[in-house]
Amino acid sequence: MKNFLDFSDKTVVVIGGTSGINRGIAELFARHAARVAVASRSQQKVDDTVASLRACGAEAMGFSADVRDPAALASGLATVHEAYGPFSVLVSGAAGNFPALLTQMSANAFRAVIDIDLIGTFNVMQAAYPYLLKPGAAVINISAPQATIPMEAQSHVCAAKAGVEMITRCLALEWGAQGMRVNGIVPGPIDGTEGMQRLAPNAAIRDAARDSVPLRRLGSPEDIGNACLFLASDLGSYVNGAILPVEGGWLQSGAGGLGRMLATLARPGTASAEK
Ligand code: COA
Ligand code: NAP
Repeated sequence: MKNFLDFSDKTVVVIGGTSGINRGIAELFARHAARVAVASRSQQKVDDTVASLRACGAEAMGFSADVRDPAALASGLATVHEAYGPFSVLVSGAAGNFPALLTQMSANAFRAVIDIDLIGTFNVMQAAYPYLLKPGAAVINISAPQATIPMEAQSHVCAAKAGVEMITRCLALEWGAQGMRVNGIVPGPIDGTEGMQRLAPNAAIRDAARDSVPLRRLGSPEDIGNACLFLASDLGSYVNGAILPVEGGWLQSGAGGLGRMLATLARPGTASAEK
């Protein structure tokens, strides 16, 4: 019987794959025998991740690039293509986030998140396109609940991730005819990650987030990696343009009113913050 989750002889590229959720995704593909390449800004984080992937027995490489720098992406991806051949799987998950009300942000702060999350996704898609396996490649963009749930102190992220989901759905149309599938994943609150640390900086918010998930638990990077395995494998061969929530049902609760808690942190002592 065919093992759909055998990724041997397949090249998997994870942009932003050197920490948190995306690193968990890279590790899971490595455990399923893929050749894995990771990229992010910090050469140190790239080196650490590649070393740990290799320690698991995987063939792995990496390069340092900022997703805001198309030339760095293009040259790094060319190196991966030269070494590992066409990409069967591309995961794009680099992102930046900090809680701030719109009036607490400079235009540059708003732009930083748009540049990393939204324009960064555009840059990754465009730079990787020449190297994607045609037909056959599976592209997965990492979105967030903010794409569809408006949240206080998250206008920059909401705007950026809404755009990421639309790029994903448009590319499902543009690239589908070439036999490539483009899907998105919406992680819920994922334990032990930088994103959780920034949006749930104290135990009260963390516990409230957990309790507002219908499954009453935070997610793990492996939960997200498992969904990536499905979408990237032939098990998902007729899934294209889907935005898959992997969040224990958190979207059903409007992400548990996280935005209101962030607003409380952002403007403590105000009447509206304490409602
Ligand atoms: N509130 C308001 N503004 C903030 C802010 C905050 N908490 N944190 C940063 N900014 C502003 C900065 O002041 C700057 O604006 P300015 O030039 O008008 O002063 C702007 O955002 C850009 O900050 P900078 O530090 O120069 O950007 P960077 O490109 O080095 O870093 C970030 C990008 C800010 C998104 C940084 O937090 C980052 O690298 N994040 C990656 C990790 C992460 O966020 N992980 C969670 C993913 S969900
Ligand atoms: P994280 O650990 O901070 O991971 C972000 C990754 O992207 C790191 O590898 C980081 O490495 C890289 N990166 C950041 N800015 C970059 C840039 N400009 N260019 C290239 N690489 C960059 O965050 P996380 O919490 O695991 O989040 C991962 C993804 O999941 C994000 O897309 C986030 O929006 C999404 N998400 C997270 C949660 C959660 O609960 N954590 C929930 C929903 C959605 P460098 O610092 O080396 O660049």
